[in-house]
Amino acid sequence: MAVVMRRLGSLGRGLWTRQSSKAKPFSTASKVSEKSAASPGELVIEREKKFSAHNYQPVPVALSRGEGIFVWDVEGKRYFDFLSGYSAVNQGHRHPKIMAALSEQASKLTLTSRAFYNDVLGEFAECMSKMLGYDKMLPSNTGVEAVETAVKLSRRWGYDVKGIPTNQAKIYFVEGNFHGRSMTAVSASTDPESYGGYGPYLPGIHKIPFDDLDALEEACSDPNTCSFIVEPIQGENGVVLPTDGYLRGVRDVCSRHNVLFVSDEVQCGLGRAGRMLAVDHEGVRPDVVILGKSLSGGLFPVSCVLADDEVMLTIKPGQV
Ligand SMILES: Cc1ncc(COP(=O)(O)O)c(C=O)c1O
Repeated sequence: MAVVMRRLGSLGRGLWTRQSSKAKPFSTASKVSEKSAASPGELVIEREKKFSAHNYQPVPVALSRGEGIFVWDVEGKRYFDFLSGYSAVNQGHRHPKIMAALSEQASKLTLTSRAFYNDVLGEFAECMSKMLGYDKMLPSNTGVEAVETAVKLSRRWGYDVKGIPTNQAKIYFVEGNFHGRSMTAVSASTDPESYGGYGPYLPGIHKIPFDDLDALEEACSDPNTCSFIVEPIQGENGVVLPTDGYLRGVRDVCSRHNVLFVSDEVQCGLGRAGRMLAVDHEGVRPDVVILGKSLSGGLFPVSCVLADDEVMLTIKPGQV
């Protein structure tokens, strides 16, 4: 199963990789392909392999169009897109409401930077905070940036609120996780493909088995532990669900030891697991929630972290 999902992982990334509409159609493909009379799909694949870094290994399907649940390859063959860009296009390709919102905003105001207020950020933050029941939201772009923010918030809360001695904070992750590709996420990974060859790694990052409350109890009983970061359903590790009661147990252990429970719902949140958040299946409320991907319907990278003021206000202007 894990092997199959790893292949699908590559497919997911492949779905994101689209031929630019501005690219001249195959005009500069290598002579080898002209000689071998390759198909349009083969030419697309050949060009990408030649000019794009080999950091993914997609299945050999070259997509050029999508609508709702369907995508079409460059030869017009239609597919069901069950992977949905690993949740980024949960709403379907080119959802008309999301396209309209993007185009309306793009035609009004491009970018303000956070040096100014604008008329939409507050509305977005209020919507997210009220919908998920947290005091505040901190936005970013990719999921891994939101994970970085959660790590920073964990440490700041650990020092400023919990009183952990300077630079001694420990954060626990679980084996088999996937939190992205930054050095923090790689330091937290147990997948040799992800972390191999990138050391030295971030200190203060520790790993325990997934779905193991005894290990969590021991980790959290260390007074220098500030947070436990976990996907309620592991995504890239092969869609791995914990046993019933695990997330309730996590909430209990973290509360008893004054450790932040951080739920990475970048992939399984926002309805993907059948409830607004995957943790809703066990009726627990994490201290910090990380969201991304379908937050923008896949049209633009948008992610965020949600937390209450005790955590969120440890970060002051210019610190994230
Ligand atoms: C659970 C989880 N967290 C974080 C990330 C990183 O998100 P992004 O690829 O947008 O940086 C992913 C990506 O697949 C993910 O599945």
